[in-house]
Amino acid sequence: MNYTIIKPNTQHIAQINALINLYVQSTQELLPRSSDHILQHLRDFWIALDLAENKVIGCASLYLWASNLAEIKSLAVEPAEQGKGIGKILIQKCLEDAAELGCQEVFALTFKPEFFYKLGFQLTERNKLPHKVWNECIQCPKLLNCGEIAVYKQIL
Ligand SMILES: CC(C)(COP(=O)(O)OP(=O)(O)OC[C@H]1O[C@@H](n2cnc3c(N)ncnc32)[C@H](O)[C@@H]1OP(=O)(O)O)[C@@H](O)C(=O)NCCC(=O)NCCS
Repeated sequence: MNYTIIKPNTQHIAQINALINLYVQSTQELLPRSSDHILQHLRDFWIALDLAENKVIGCASLYLWASNLAEIKSLAVEPAEQGKGIGKILIQKCLEDAAELGCQEVFALTFKPEFFYKLGFQLTERNKLPHKVWNECIQCPKLLNCGEIAVYKQIL
């Protein structure tokens, strides 16, 4: 399969939305994102695009919380394309963005900590993250009992 990792444009929003929602509905491992939210944060995203099908098969976004802290959000790779290194490249692109922006630490809240450990992230305490991070949890049906694990990586 021939794919490329690119910044998305507005034509990709519906497919990004569908990919994220796949995991919102099936495994509840991702927070739901509306099309409006994706539009407003489109420049935070990287996508993996299947060139033959012109289809979004992976996505990830980097959200800046502070001048020294960013979060990886909305990481998803289509089920049939997992295990081919796409998730890893998407994370690397987000980390490159963070470094270019001068951001020193990147974290993620995840049910897949082992995936992140392989990419050099370490376990951290959820309560070490800034309070404002938890505003999003209010939108989540699992609230604070979700079992997500906080991982972080020092990049600069
Ligand atoms: C997590 C996810 C993005 C990984 O994407 P992927 O493209 O399958 O991952 P990659 O192929 O790039 O894997 C990179 C490395 O991580 C490992 N890995 C991938 N998923 C893993 C997991 N769940 N547990 C442990 N290791 C994992 C791979 O074996 C690979 O190791 P290697 O470099 O030694 O070969 C994908 O499984 C997914 O979309 N899951 C559902 C949504 C989700 O959970 N998103 C994360 C929310 S934070």
